[in-house]
Amino acid sequence: MALADLQALEREAVMATYLRYPVEFVRGEGTRLWDDEGNEYLDFLTGISVAQLGHCHPRVVEAVREQAGRLMLVSNFFYTEPGMRLCKRLSDSSLGGGVFLCNSGAEAVECAIKLARRHRPGGEFVVLEGAFHGRTMGALSATMQEEKQAPFAPLVPGFKAVRRHGPPLPLVEAVTDRTAAVIIEPVQGEGGIHPIHPHMLAAARDACEEHGALLIFDEIQCGMGRTGTLWAWQQYEIVPDVMTVAKGLGGGVPVGACVTSPEFADLLQPGDHGTTFGGAPVAAAAANAVLDVVDDDAFLAGVAEKGERLAAALRDLGLDVRGLGLMLAFRADDAPALVRRALLEQRLVLNATGPDTVRLLPPLTVAHDEIDEAVRRIGAVL
Ligand SMILES: Cc1ncc(COP(=O)(O)O)c(C=O)c1O
Repeated sequence: MALADLQALEREAVMATYLRYPVEFVRGEGTRLWDDEGNEYLDFLTGISVAQLGHCHPRVVEAVREQAGRLMLVSNFFYTEPGMRLCKRLSDSSLGGGVFLCNSGAEAVECAIKLARRHRPGGEFVVLEGAFHGRTMGALSATMQEEKQAPFAPLVPGFKAVRRHGPPLPLVEAVTDRTAAVIIEPVQGEGGIHPIHPHMLAAARDACEEHGALLIFDEIQCGMGRTGTLWAWQQYEIVPDVMTVAKGLGGGVPVGACVTSPEFADLLQPGDHGTTFGGAPVAAAAANAVLDVVDDDAFLAGVAEKGERLAAALRDLGLDVRGLGLMLAFRADDAPALVRRALLEQRLVLNATGPDTVRLLPPLTVAHDEIDEAVRRIGAVL
């Protein structure tokens, strides 16, 4: 169907939750996308850090195809291998405790919130300003962005935000014996790519220890190798009690996970939580295939090195760059307009996380010459 036909369908039958660019993508391979007229684009957004191995990575495609032809879904009343294997791998590669599989980032966060409430019934939550944890009512309550929260009040009570930068004292003072958990993205994504200072993470760790609260790291955007280690917190050696994962985990297939340390693995008991599609074999097979590639020291070192190359090349353009690994952003006066020009004039897919921030989330498999070409195109629209 042509773009104009899709736009007509949108007007007739689609909720107006998204502002779309006038581009219809029909195919993807690696870092490349093609529109309905055959034009080729470089994708430095990857569905907001989802196509972790690029589009249609052969191992992910093969895993999905094989599993889809064998068994797509039975309920969690029964055992299936891909989901169990995925839980074990996620646990072994991170906190060593229990894993709950779900379908999205917001759902992973909801699980973490419920887990924390089991840990400390009626307990409160401390989060950072600018945080984004999702759009469901619990996750939205942790998402400290006024314009996203305000229309949907009243939210879940008990969430308090403290500043994300500067001395950690406000955070330390906010954590009390009534706190169920502190929730932090080690690198804030939607808030504009803000690596949280290790001092803040360490202070959160200590405060949680002192008051018996859970430390939850939301690795939904910064995890799965995005920053050059499998989990961003591994760079700081500050270990959370609970971690949420989604986005790149499935390489394009919806799958999320909430992971605990052994101490908190049994907080949720039968009947406490569930989701029909959690651990579905096709999604789990895709995630296992992504992990096969990403959970590898040489691959992750390559991500870090490519991140440095991209950041250095952007700085050579005179840009003010921030971020970690292949999770980068630069300041631009009119970021939304720049992103639009990059897409429509240079066929480069980027994203603006605000009026002055352009975000880059290329696939972890991006090639050096693709990095150089993307930077050339950014230079052309500056
Ligand atoms: C850090 C973080 N947490 C949670 C979410 C919500 O994930 P989802 O959109 O899959 O519900 C996002 C999505 O951008 C995110 O970046």
